[in-house]
Amino acid sequence: MKVFVHTFGCQMNEYDSARAAEIFGRRGYMPTDDPKQADVIVVNTCSIRDKAEQKLASALGRYSGLKRHRDRRLVVMGCTAQLRSRALAGRFSAVDLFLGTDRVAELDDWIRAGMPRETRVARADAESYRFLEGRPARVPVSVPVTVQKGCDNFCAYCVVPAARGPQIDRPAAEILAEVDRMVLAGAKEVVLIGQNVNAYGKVGRGRLATNRFAALLREVAARPGLSRVRFTTSHPRDLDVATVQAVADLPVLCPHFHLPVQSGSDRILRKMGRGYSRKTYLEKVEKIRRLIPDAAISTDLIVGFPGETKQDFAETMSLIDEVGFTFSYSFKYSPRPDTRAFDMEDDVSESVKSDRLARLQDKQAHFMGRNLHAWVGRTATVLVEGPSRRGGGQWMGRTETFEIVNFEACLDQPRELTGRSVEMEIVADRGHSLEGRILQKRAESMGGGL
Ligand code: 5AD
Ligand code: SF4
Repeated sequence: MKVFVHTFGCQMNEYDSARAAEIFGRRGYMPTDDPKQADVIVVNTCSIRDKAEQKLASALGRYSGLKRHRDRRLVVMGCTAQLRSRALAGRFSAVDLFLGTDRVAELDDWIRAGMPRETRVARADAESYRFLEGRPARVPVSVPVTVQKGCDNFCAYCVVPAARGPQIDRPAAEILAEVDRMVLAGAKEVVLIGQNVNAYGKVGRGRLATNRFAALLREVAARPGLSRVRFTTSHPRDLDVATVQAVADLPVLCPHFHLPVQSGSDRILRKMGRGYSRKTYLEKVEKIRRLIPDAAISTDLIVGFPGETKQDFAETMSLIDEVGFTFSYSFKYSPRPDTRAFDMEDDVSESVKSDRLARLQDKQAHFMGRNLHAWVGRTATVLVEGPSRRGGGQWMGRTETFEIVNFEACLDQPRELTGRSVEMEIVADRGHSLEGRILQKRAESMGGGL
C-alpha cells in the first residue's frame, strides 16, 4: 500500500505532512512520489493567498479524476480544509476526509476506523489539543520541530488565526524529547517553528508582557548532538532582548532573525494592526546589531495593502534601504475572507501592485547581491545538507546566516559529507548563492574521522 502527500504552504504544513506520512507508514503505507500509484492521496492545504486556493482546486480536480480509475482514498487536511470544508465538499465529492488544523493527530484514529467518509474540523481547546509527535526513522540534516500552534495576533490581512485558531504552546518537555528523537534520526539542525515563536509562553500584555522563548531556546541549545538551532517566525513586537542575548551567547543558535516587517509606513502598520511602528521595529534591528554585529536579518513584505499610497510604498522602500535585509519574501496583498482587511476596499489596482512588487524586488535583489558579494574572501562554517541539486559532484550547505554555499569535494575528503560542519573559504558569489572551497586544515581533521 502506498501514500502520496501533496503539500502546499509553509514549514508548518511541511512538518504536519511529514507526520502524516509517518502515521501512514506505521500502518504499512510506503511513501510514493506518484499519485497514480497511491492508495491514499493526502493534500495538505494553504489559504494564505488566493493563488494557493486556486492551485488547490486544480489539484483536487486531478486527484478526483484518479479515483475514477481505481478505489483509493482522498484526504484534504490543513488550513483550507479547516476554513472551506463545506464548499470543497460541494465541489469535490471524491474527498473522503476533511481534517481540520486542530484534528491532524486524529489521522491514525481515522485509518483504524477503516477510513470512512468524514469531516473532522471542530476546534480543540488548550486542554484537549494534541500536538502531532515526530517519530521518524531517518530525517534530513535540517528539520522543523513545532513549538506552538495558532496565533493570537489577528493582523488585518492574515487568515492564520481563523485557519489555525488561538495560540497553544507545546509543552517544553515534549519539544525537547522530539528534538532528541530528531537527532537520533540523523538531524544536525532543528528549526523551531510556530506562527509567533517569540510569544511562546507569553504572560501579560503590552509593555509588561514577558515570554519563555529565550528560556526554551537555551534548553534546546543544550541538547547533545545538535550543530545548529534556528527559529521562525519572529513577530517584531514580541522579540525581546533575552532572546537576542541567548543568540549572542550560544554558538549553537544561528545569528539569523527572520523578522517580518510587512510595511515601512506607520499608517499602514497601524491599519494592519501589527503592534509596532517603523521606529520601534528599527530599534529592535539596532538592538540585534549591537549585540550580534554579524547577524543576518530577513523579512516578509506586502505591497498594495488597502489604502497604500505612493508615499506609504516609498516608506517601505526606504526601510529596505535602512535595514539592508539579507533576503525577503514579498507578496501582493491578497484579500482573504475571514480577515478584517476583507471588509476594507482592495483599492490598489493589480497593475500598481505588480509595479510596486517589481520595484521592491529589484531593490531587494540589490541588497541580496551586496550581502553575497561581501562574503567573497571570508571564511564560513558550512553545515552540509547533501549533494547539490545541480549534480556534477557538487555539494550544498548553508552558512549560519542561511546563505546557500555550493562546493566541490576534493579527492582526499571523505565521500559522505552530509551533516558535517566544514570550514570554507568563500571564493565567489553566484546570484542567489555562494561558492566555497573547503579549507585544507579542516579537511585533514575530517579525514581523521570527525
Ligand atoms: N496577502 C498577501 N500576503 C500575505 N501574507 C499573509 N497574508 C497575506 C495576504 N492576505 C504574507 C505575509 C506573511 C507571509 C507568510 O505571507 O507577508 O508574513
Ligand atoms: Fe498557509 Fe498560513 Fe496555513 Fe501555513 S499557516 S499553511 S502559510 S495559511
